[in-house]
Amino acid sequence: MKRLALIALLAFMPLMAQVEDKIEVPYIDFPIKMGEDFALVQAHCLMCHSFGYILNQGKQPRAHWNHVVHKMINSFKAPIPEENAKKIEDFLTEHYGNGE
Ligand code: HEC
Repeated sequence: MKRLALIALLAFMPLMAQVEDKIEVPYIDFPIKMGEDFALVQAHCLMCHSFGYILNQGKQPRAHWNHVVHKMINSFKAPIPEENAKKIEDFLTEHYGNGE
């Protein structure tokens, strides 16, 4: 009997989950900034994951972007020459920096 009640409960659970009210999903405007060196970011950073990884960090100081870029190179073996790493760091600091 207990099992039957449990099966009935599970079967009707999706119905209970329906909500009448309109659900508003918050819109967060955080567009990709196209800058002079965006092509470099596209070439070197998007081969493994989406741009969302970068956007989700929020505004960060240069030290953070320096750390992230070198983490990608050293830990994840991203094939990025040092001169481009610097330009990418500059791009991220300019467009996704917090002024520090
Ligand atoms: C060789 C593949 C590869 C390349 C190229 C790469 N990444 Fe990543 N990236 C990763 C992996 C793997 C993770 C970790 C994913 C996870 O933990 O789910 C990651 C995670 C991240 C994160 C999330 C925070 C963190 O520290 O884990 C950020 C931000 C990021 N990458 C930025 C970049 C940027 C900027 C570039 C270009 C300079 C880049 N990635 C290039 C593989 C790469």
